[in-house]
Amino acid sequence: MDEEAARYTSSASFDAEIYEATVCVNAAHIKMLEKQGLISKTSAEKAVSALKQLLQTRQTPPPTTEDIHIYLEQLLAQKAPEAAEMLALGKSRNDAVVAAVKIEARRRVYKVAEELLGAVEALVMKSREHAATVFPVYTHLQRAAPATFGFLLQSYAIRLLRCCNTLLNNLEACEESPLGSAAVAGTSAPVDREYIAQLLGFKRISWNALDATASREFLLLLLSPLHAIALVISSFAEEMVLYSSEEFGLIQIPEELAATSSIMPQKRNPVVAEIMRTKTAEVLGLLATVSGILSRQPSGYNLDLQQVTPKFWQALREVSESLHMLKKHVEMIEVNKERAMEACAPPTAAVELANHLTLKHGIGFRKAHQIAAKISRSIAEKTLTQTRLDTIFQEHGLKPIYTVGEVLNIMDPVATVQRYTAKGSANPSMVSENVDRLFKIVEEERNRVEMERRFLEDCLQRLLS
Ligand code: ARG
Repeated sequence: MDEEAARYTSSASFDAEIYEATVCVNAAHIKMLEKQGLISKTSAEKAVSALKQLLQTRQTPPPTTEDIHIYLEQLLAQKAPEAAEMLALGKSRNDAVVAAVKIEARRRVYKVAEELLGAVEALVMKSREHAATVFPVYTHLQRAAPATFGFLLQSYAIRLLRCCNTLLNNLEACEESPLGSAAVAGTSAPVDREYIAQLLGFKRISWNALDATASREFLLLLLSPLHAIALVISSFAEEMVLYSSEEFGLIQIPEELAATSSIMPQKRNPVVAEIMRTKTAEVLGLLATVSGILSRQPSGYNLDLQQVTPKFWQALREVSESLHMLKKHVEMIEVNKERAMEACAPPTAAVELANHLTLKHGIGFRKAHQIAAKISRSIAEKTLTQTRLDTIFQEHGLKPIYTVGEVLNIMDPVATVQRYTAKGSANPSMVSENVDRLFKIVEEERNRVEMERRFLEDCLQRLLS
């Protein structure tokens, strides 16, 4: 092949990501060939020990080599020629590469899940501390109701846990071994597919060689929850940027996670949160690229597919790093409690006034809403006197119901959050109760990830011991 063309089409530069997994795939194949009596025990042992060595020394293929699969076969040919000679019996690069990608995908997804669970744990811990810290929540970025900071943090914990669950569930395709599918249509070689799957920690075997070798949309099923995670991180970061601005002044981002301006010394720029906020676009770009590469692929392996996996690894890295930064923010963030309380002061809890009129005084809610609106405006304009209040009721054909003091008490933020009764509300006692529930989910998910991770790692370790 023309040298430039060889470089252009080579995956050698990014095959480092699947080096270890590819070594394992080769070792498993050799063991299977031995079990089937296709190579001798001595050649098999020699080859496996050579592969172990290659794992320790981690060779870098020259940039003109087609890929890691060819390269490892060449290296093995020098160290264990008899086994290397048979390495491609019943195995093609097409089934080998997807096997390696699936193994590595599982390992890395478990890592991301662990990172995510760490971030969630930090959110829950902080939410316990701030279960009763009055904090405004917004709709349309307009002050909507008093809530608590812990309540806000828990919303993020729940969103992340949901994504994590989907991410882990969608690993299903990666638990299916493609090995023994050979290049495209299966093989006449007497391969033991179950045995090789078991050696590599796969849970089942694929049942169509064409699908097994040439489909990659299972990666989109992982990229999609990864992107969803990045979106959640982005929302969180956006809120941090906004709320730490002087205009909101609700929170303080720690100095460690801010940069000063090179010219305006008074500034504390939330640069880490800004990068977290924007990473979602990069992850979306990677997802879009993968989707683009996969479109209009005729079935059967095409080299286009080789370009997919580096994007996937990149997305995993971006999300993992951002989750780590989210955790740091959460741990160090400080709430400006006074300012948050101010933001929740009347008329923020106007809905509560309307509720009170309806529930305690039997006024229909639509009318109560109109009365509360007038009272709220008057409070906002600082014109609420007893006379004005009485007039508002009279305008609606009612006798005066409240004193100004009573109105302000009903809309008191602390009292308001405590009055929330519906499940899932921002009531401090509910937020506190949810702490345990969330910790329990984190622990269950951690156990699940740890069990899966250990199962896979144990298989791979046994393979090369
Ligand atoms: N390097 C390719 C990849 O990463 C695997 C090789 C398949 N090549 C082939 N000519 N069938 O997907």
